[in-house]
Amino acid sequence: MSLVEKIKSKEARLAVIGLGYVGLPLLVEFGRAGFHTVGIDIDAEKVRQINDSVSYIKDVSDEALGDVVKSGHVSATTDFSVLADVDTVNICVPTPLRKTRDPDISYIVSAVDEIAKYLHDNQLIILESTTYPGTTEEVILTRLQSDHFRVGENLFLAFSPERVDPGNPDFNTKNIPKVVGGITQACTEVASLLYSATLVTIVPVSTAKVAETVKLLENTFRSVNIGLVNEIALMCNKMDIDVWEVIRAAATKPFGFMAFYPGPGLGGHCIPIDPFYLSWKAKLSGFEARFIELAGQINGSMPEYVVSRVVEALNEEEKSVKGSRIVIVGVAYKADIDDIRESPALDVIELLCRRGANVVYHDSYVAEGHGKLEGIESIELDDAALASCDCAVVVTGHKGVDYDALLEKVPVLVDTRNVYSGVKSDKIYRL
Ligand SMILES: NC(=O)c1ccc[n+]([C@@H]2O[C@H](COP(=O)([O-])OP(=O)(O)OC[C@H]3O[C@@H](n4cnc5c(N)ncnc54)[C@H](O)[C@@H]3O)[C@@H](O)[C@H]2O)c1
Repeated sequence: MSLVEKIKSKEARLAVIGLGYVGLPLLVEFGRAGFHTVGIDIDAEKVRQINDSVSYIKDVSDEALGDVVKSGHVSATTDFSVLADVDTVNICVPTPLRKTRDPDISYIVSAVDEIAKYLHDNQLIILESTTYPGTTEEVILTRLQSDHFRVGENLFLAFSPERVDPGNPDFNTKNIPKVVGGITQACTEVASLLYSATLVTIVPVSTAKVAETVKLLENTFRSVNIGLVNEIALMCNKMDIDVWEVIRAAATKPFGFMAFYPGPGLGGHCIPIDPFYLSWKAKLSGFEARFIELAGQINGSMPEYVVSRVVEALNEEEKSVKGSRIVIVGVAYKADIDDIRESPALDVIELLCRRGANVVYHDSYVAEGHGKLEGIESIELDDAALASCDCAVVVTGHKGVDYDALLEKVPVLVDTRNVYSGVKSDKIYRL
């Protein structure tokens, strides 16, 4: 049976490598669509939890995972030899930056080296990890093709960017349109077929390179626009203009304007990182991506600006940062999720600690001792705990926090969220 026929009849056996925020939801969607799918991760604890129907990703419920595990459609393993029996492989491993801001594609390379060991005729390999234009062709194809394996004939290779937005109640892996670009037209077609058996909308493009660049354009668009509005916020502060009122009024224009809001800086695995994948690759072609660099500088300076607002707020109370007890409210990179990767709250905490503040935090979604928060005490926002706080800094906040009550219980509140609460008070300092 051909690969196309196997996918159409759902007899194709699927694999997903890397079972994090991107890979686990995809694994479950494939299982729900009726495919037998195996998840592979180097983290044995994640593998154990999946096989026990315990989800560690908020957007995937234990129930949804349990359904596909119990029906026998989904399982997980640390053993890459299962690749010998699968027809398709989706790669969803991390793509961080090195300290020098160069792309670190070592996770992709190590996954592809495993795939190469078990490669067999008519396998479809799809890269979903965000990366620079050319990775699929230059890094993966070169490792997999040979005199025997010819792309578009008995080896199919494509890139399809993941657009998942953790915590978004309206858009999820299934209903977010999926861009797909293959190395050849046949690769695009077979990869599109796989996704169309599972997801609602497929957007085929002509090449893998285009698909890789689509994702980087989307994230660069956000980074640059956030950088622009953050610069406008800094400017308005100097000129004593309420930036929130300006944005609210501008947003009434029914065309040609899209509102972005100032915030404490970028966070998460995507927007602070991905644009540098593009600028790095552009540099190799002799092109300097100036917007990306500038937005990175402005957005990266926002935690310092937050701290300057804290200094101003405490100053009004005739207090110094040194020795003040400051509670950070919301430490995940955005509200209502448990992901603290690249969170600007971590920078704000570090800067305040360096200036001698006694920093504690509250975030119902993020447990004490989690990653870089080690050593920072987590508190409840109750009267007893807040009585000793000199200032609250709402970095990303989260639902369930009563901000009016918080305002009454602390001397000053610095609100850096990228949403306008509407509450007016001399005790609130905004960006
Ligand atoms: N998180 C998001 O919101 C999001 C959105 C769009 C795109 N992306 C992109 O998707 C990719 C994955 O991101 P994520 O947030 O899911 O990362 P993650 O860290 O949550 O998950 C990655 C998983 O891959 C595993 N892993 C690492 N190396 C491996 C290997 N060699 N073999 C098997 N497993 C391995 C890790 O143990 C981890 O479980 C990244 O390129 C990211 O930029 C993420």
